[in-house]
Amino acid sequence: MDVDLRKANELFHDFESDSYDRKWGILYDQDNALRVRRKFEKLLRGPFPHVGRLLEVGCGTGYVGLNVCLGGDLVDELYACDISQGMVDVCGKKAAELGIEVRAKRSELESLAYLGEQFDMVIGHAILHHIPDIEKALAEIYRVLVPGGICMLAGEPTRTGDRLGRFARAVTTKAVDWYTAHGGYFGGMPARLREEPSGGDDDNGARVFEDVVDIHTFVPGEVCALARSVGFSEARYESEELISSFVGWITRTIDNKLAEENLTFRWRYWSYNTYLRLSRLDESIYRFLPSSWFYNMLLYLEKPA
Ligand SMILES: C[S@@+](CC[C@H](N)C(=O)[O-])C[C@H]1O[C@@H](n2cnc3c(N)ncnc32)[C@H](O)[C@@H]1O
Repeated sequence: MDVDLRKANELFHDFESDSYDRKWGILYDQDNALRVRRKFEKLLRGPFPHVGRLLEVGCGTGYVGLNVCLGGDLVDELYACDISQGMVDVCGKKAAELGIEVRAKRSELESLAYLGEQFDMVIGHAILHHIPDIEKALAEIYRVLVPGGICMLAGEPTRTGDRLGRFARAVTTKAVDWYTAHGGYFGGMPARLREEPSGGDDDNGARVFEDVVDIHTFVPGEVCALARSVGFSEARYESEELISSFVGWITRTIDNKLAEENLTFRWRYWSYNTYLRLSRLDESIYRFLPSSWFYNMLLYLEKPA
């Protein structure tokens, strides 16, 4: 498909914005505030510092920015931006519900609509792999950071992790098709496939972009080298989620394939708690395995003072 990848991302995420948190199990509460802060503390190798001005790029509904603010008095001023106006609107609404002040606006990462040297910290989650020109995006983050400012990006798929994820999705898709065709039961009733969306008026065709919006997977060392080439003085990485990610792709594929009536509360509760338990297991085996095997890359970048 010959498409403008920025436009595809904008249309697809506009379409996804209202149902995004439900689809990905995103929550805003003290547990998630702690989990988000711990991700960044793994990168920081210490406690999350107090930040004057914090910008969340590719904010979506505000997953990392709002959860960091929920976790305590860590941020003086929160800014957020995203290419999708739909996401920006949901982020604003969510912040208002949570009593958090956010200055959110539409802006592309490769041409950030902010003056230079504005932010003490830039954070993002699951954003870099959607960006056509990574070098330009890193250079823009560098430009808007104050000297000595830091950028932390989490939730970026590693090349190996992505292969494992694709394998889990492909096998589960086949298994669910077979199981439903052979009269299997799920959630106490006959397993039935979810009806395919019409692709008509309800989504303006945006759903077709799902297959093209994920543009990159990463070899962490290569991204660090690119970051240094745009000026960052320190560039390093960690990673997370191996078994939890593999099992997570299986359960999410089942969620996406099966009809709503099969997906009982008990199933959702089990899959969410299993994911949390396996994430803790992943943390305990992290130091014994190559970090490039884990699904999510976490990137730490520092601008020279
Ligand atoms: C996978 S979602 C992640 C959203 C949120 N950070 C989270 O973790 O839930 C990716 C986000 O990046 C945004 N995005 C995609 N391309 C972008 C670009 N070129 N500039 C800014 N945001 C972009 C999308 O609109 C979407 O909200």
